[in-house]
Amino acid sequence: MPVPPYKIKVVEPIRLIPPERRRAALEEAGWNTFGLRSEDVFVDLLTDSGTSALSQEQRAAMELGDEAYAGSRSFFRLEAAVRELYGYRHVIPTHQGRGAEHLLSRVLVGPGELVPSNLYFTTSRAHAELLGGIWVDVSIPEASDPSSLHPFKGNIDLAKLARILERDRERVAFVRQEACLNMAGGQPFSTENVQAVSALCREHEVPFVLDATRLAENALFVKEREPAYADRPLASVIGELAALADGAVFSSKKDHFVPIGGVLALNGDDLARRAKELLVLYEGFPHYGGIAGHDMEALAQGIRESADEAYVRHYVEQSRYLGRLLERAGVPIVVPVGAHAVFVDAKRFLPHLPQTDFPAQALAAAIYLEGGVRAMERGIVSGQHGDEPYDGLELVRLTLPRRVYTAEHLAYVAEVVAGLLPRAEEIPGLRLTYAPEELRFFQARFEPLAPFLQPEPALTV
Ligand code: F0G
Repeated sequence: MPVPPYKIKVVEPIRLIPPERRRAALEEAGWNTFGLRSEDVFVDLLTDSGTSALSQEQRAAMELGDEAYAGSRSFFRLEAAVRELYGYRHVIPTHQGRGAEHLLSRVLVGPGELVPSNLYFTTSRAHAELLGGIWVDVSIPEASDPSSLHPFKGNIDLAKLARILERDRERVAFVRQEACLNMAGGQPFSTENVQAVSALCREHEVPFVLDATRLAENALFVKEREPAYADRPLASVIGELAALADGAVFSSKKDHFVPIGGVLALNGDDLARRAKELLVLYEGFPHYGGIAGHDMEALAQGIRESADEAYVRHYVEQSRYLGRLLERAGVPIVVPVGAHAVFVDAKRFLPHLPQTDFPAQALAAAIYLEGGVRAMERGIVSGQHGDEPYDGLELVRLTLPRRVYTAEHLAYVAEVVAGLLPRAEEIPGLRLTYAPEELRFFQARFEPLAPFLQPEPALTV
């Protein structure tokens, strides 16, 4: 059992509301877990984004927030923290990750230009596409195979990337590689692969940008799986990986333990200048970029803590612990378990449902109904704009906030999910009743195609 390298000082009460109220809450939410109120949720595994617990050091640092509009001391402390760990020259704070993605796309992507990337992330792809860019998947095939035990499913297929660069170099806006590839199950890349991607990009003079949102966990996997790195301090592995790219996008709401904030970090002077010109238009002055001085203080401290191996190791072990419990109970999950979540394979959990009946969305609803546990769909609703069918991954993500839940919570979650296995056939598919044009998974609404999980679930706490 993973033992936390921290103890609890402040608590937030949670409670499990009765099954009939959970059903009513789901109906009101349009059978989309994003529509639930958090007071109706018992264990909230929707996302690891902005949901971590702050440390006492972060809270103390917040008292030092300098809210000056320009020249804030807090900005310079943030800049120093980013430079120290990642080594990038220019530090551009944004309100969150997608703010950084927006600026990056604006300075790099034009109509018809290509963005080769390992799979995709919803907001990253959307910002490139809004500017007329074309997302090109250069992930390795194992990334889309939930049963493949490949240790580095976040790797880029080098032959595929080389072909694009050789054939279409003029049209490539930038190459993007995401750490702990979210949509594949939180799967890391290897240093060896990033080195090769970096060399290819340099050879063809194309910018190479990391999505370093979960680089700390990726660096831990590198230590575990690439023998040359086993004894290196985590911070130096993080720094080495970051140095292979020309810049990085961070949603600081993950590894950096803050409720809000993001960073666009760049080495190129011209690129950074252009990004800062747009920053004042879309986010704020370069010395706060959409967050408050006290947020920048918490972020600077959080960046330091993100390289604390005890925290990172415990977090990854929590995911593996939940994965082990689920696997032992026969629940089909993505293996190997990745960084920030356990992903349940809805295609195998609900084999009676075609993908066009939104099995992962239905399973996420069932998990909430069964035990008040909130998860998230990562399948056809997230992956498609709407022209079904799609045969990609169909997953439910049980995402762990950092430093928040205990092993008991995780054991409870495993019991809830496993409890559905024998009644899987009572989970019907869903019909879409409303789909927004952009990022439909956030606000889409559904209706069950048949009575949903009758009789009422028995679980109460
Ligand atoms: N990149 C990655 C890899 C992400 O996982 C996210 C957000 C973003 C960029 C965008 O950052 O939310 O701060 O604007 N992921 C969250 C999630 C929403 O639940 O996986 P943001």
